[in-house]
Amino acid sequence: MLLSNIWCMRLFCRSFAYLTIKDRLPQILTKAIDSLHRHKNEFFEKYGEEGMEAEKKAISLLSKLRNELQTDKPVTPLVEKYIDTDIWNQYLEYQQSLISESDGKARWFYSPWLFVECYMYRRIHDAIIQSPPIDYFDVFKESKGQNFFESQESAVILCTHLQQLKSRVGHLSREQLRSEFFRLLQISLWGNKCDLSLSGGETSAQKSNLINSLDDLKPFILVNDMERLWSLLCKEEEKASAVRVAIVLDNSGFELVTDLILADFLLSSKLATEVHFYGKIIPWFVSDTTIHDFNWLIKQVKRSDHKWMSRCGGDWKNYVKMGRWVYVDHMFWTLPHEFSAMSQVAPDLYAELQKAHLILFKGDLNYRKLTGDRKWEFTVPFHQALNGFHPAPLCSIRTLKAEIQVGLQPGQGEQLAAADPSWLTMGKYGIFQSDGLL
Ligand code: F6P
Ligand code: MG
Repeated sequence: MLLSNIWCMRLFCRSFAYLTIKDRLPQILTKAIDSLHRHKNEFFEKYGEEGMEAEKKAISLLSKLRNELQTDKPVTPLVEKYIDTDIWNQYLEYQQSLISESDGKARWFYSPWLFVECYMYRRIHDAIIQSPPIDYFDVFKESKGQNFFESQESAVILCTHLQQLKSRVGHLSREQLRSEFFRLLQISLWGNKCDLSLSGGETSAQKSNLINSLDDLKPFILVNDMERLWSLLCKEEEKASAVRVAIVLDNSGFELVTDLILADFLLSSKLATEVHFYGKIIPWFVSDTTIHDFNWLIKQVKRSDHKWMSRCGGDWKNYVKMGRWVYVDHMFWTLPHEFSAMSQVAPDLYAELQKAHLILFKGDLNYRKLTGDRKWEFTVPFHQALNGFHPAPLCSIRTLKAEIQVGLQPGQGEQLAAADPSWLTMGKYGIFQSDGLL
């Protein structure tokens, strides 16, 4: 695989990658610093002077990081010992070995986009864990919470829809079940518009009734393998007593609500018997889901004053308690590696994913890692772009927010580009793109 085929700012100046590193990431770092500032009093109340010193230290490390990024300094090894530090530093060495410039140093604007973007979030964590006793602090927690509360009206509509659906699910015809499944899949797809990394940490809540917009949004689905997902689950339901669906989660807040609604439907319709959720071990790409976000959101939903929403929260808590919903952590998801490296870098995780009958990969970043973040031709088959990553039948459910798309019809990408130059990056279009299904 050619390195020149990977999205790199130097090679593709003015690209979305370049603008992300130049503008969006410094903005995200500034917001992280602001969040620490705003919690100053809380740190003081909890830890006194020690808390204040820790806050200052974390801020100075993040300011230094922002400066390194903006002045295109070399990317430096991680300092603080954590479970993934050695793997990260080895990866950094590997990046350096690819550099042909005289100083042989990987720099922010001279390295693959995926690598430096992941590295920034890992460095934020590095700064936080170097600052005890506030080494637990999630600089994006406030934004994730805000996204959830601002989307609450839409979430209530979805929860009400789900509870009404569940009350009649046993009486639905196969055809009705299929169309409900498609509806909830699309809700989960468009829920992916609500990530906070694309918006530079600014709120991107879902304010309207998504259910009513689905028909209007249909023309924006560029690859639609929903029918294949349905066939696969029907087939598995017939032949296996246990059907496991894995959901590799993306953003917390509204998107997570849509994913949990889909996961609830999978169980209540008996299309699946268990759902395994995969989340991040550290705060990641602003809004990605950690175990704290997962538990927090279920608690908030349960606490709601709204009867049906609260009922959803209660049901979800029970699924977790009964082991029908399982949340799984793994450091691999916050490494810079593409997924084709998983079988070597994280063979335990790969083996775990092989036990699923279907894996749903939510969101844009997962798509970039599935396809190795390469500048593929639009018509390259998805199977080829996966580069040997086939743990189980899988499907990417993603709105397009990076200049990567494969598996399109000849001429489709060019037509879209002519009609709308920003088609790849604004989250306006979506895909259900599968591999290994019928
Ligand atoms: O910063 C941009 C980016 O890396 C894009 O790939 C994408 O817009 C976003 O971050 C992450 O999106 P998602 O939450 O859908 O993975
Ligand atoms: Mg995300």
